[in-house]
Amino acid sequence: MKNKIKQKVFSGIRATGQLHLGNYLGAVKGMLALQETHDCIFSVVDLHTITTPYDPDSLQNSILEIAIDYLAAGLDPKKCKIEVQSFVPEHIELAYLLSTIYPVSRLQQLPTYKDKTLQHPKYQNMGLLFYPILMAADILLYKTELVPAGVDQEPHIEVTREIARKFNAMFGETFPEVKRMETVGEYVPSLLGTGKMSKSVPGSYINLADSPDVIYEKMSKAKTDSGPQSKMSKLPEEGAVANLFKIFGLFDVKRAKVFESQYLEGSIKYMEMKETLAEVIIEVLQPIREKRNDLERNKEYVKKILLEGSIEARHEAKINLNEVKQKMGLI
Ligand code: TYM
Repeated sequence: MKNKIKQKVFSGIRATGQLHLGNYLGAVKGMLALQETHDCIFSVVDLHTITTPYDPDSLQNSILEIAIDYLAAGLDPKKCKIEVQSFVPEHIELAYLLSTIYPVSRLQQLPTYKDKTLQHPKYQNMGLLFYPILMAADILLYKTELVPAGVDQEPHIEVTREIARKFNAMFGETFPEVKRMETVGEYVPSLLGTGKMSKSVPGSYINLADSPDVIYEKMSKAKTDSGPQSKMSKLPEEGAVANLFKIFGLFDVKRAKVFESQYLEGSIKYMEMKETLAEVIIEVLQPIREKRNDLERNKEYVKKILLEGSIEARHEAKINLNEVKQKMGLI
């Protein structure tokens, strides 16, 4: 339809290393679909990155690596804006303003906060507690309605909705109700049998940039079990083998079904399944890896994309932040 205002979309990824299959299936694939139809801003959220231990000397490079992964996976700067969070200081200003209407106790109870403080007991900091407020500000700064992200982000998106509702009630209708885009890849399990695929758990993930050799090696180390001893009445619902079936199904349902039937018949050879799964993943990642290699040689181009995307995003951010400040009586 002509002149129809496109729905706003925002999502971000921390610059904590290269993207893995969880980030790709849980977030990037949604971004790729939405850039075709929606008004999208995708961010490298460097300010969230520094809430857990990191190396300042390599942060700039990590930011570029996420941008390279975004572009290699198919984000197109003609169809969406790609920004760096700290290039748009309005994120922080809005976060502060929103923090004045949200209780500290609710932030302390969030499972994500508890997990991170357990993971890094010596790195407890105010930024970590503030994390969901900054994330809410990221989303609300652009009056976002839809967020392509994994299911692990749901508690933060709920905080965002609570803040938006409270702001609207206190200062007048300003922010829309935001939803997470639900997808089949919203929870990609670990290769180690328990939990999700995660950058912070070595052996649990495959990166988009991994070479075929590395993918074969990681897959060969993926956990399985002792295998079915006879015919089985159903597929496993949890554990290492269930995880591999799930990952397989996310890439190639047809070929996954072949191994699922073999499992039910009791004839499955896990090594064969893992090799085939590695092949399937290598096939899907091949064009991404090739584009990635080109971009690695052209970092100045990537920097330009980030700068232009951030400048454009900032125009919108300023307008919305002004509205918020007016409503709060600050201007
Ligand atoms: P981060 O950097 O941890 O993860 C980036 C995205 O990847 C998704 N993801 C997964 N999805 C499915 N299965 C997995 N195993 C898996 N692992 C990671 C995450 O759900 C996420 O979508 N807080 C965010 C960054 C952020 C943000 C935002 C996201 C900051 N502001 C505003 C959306 C909107 C984070 O830590 O992502």
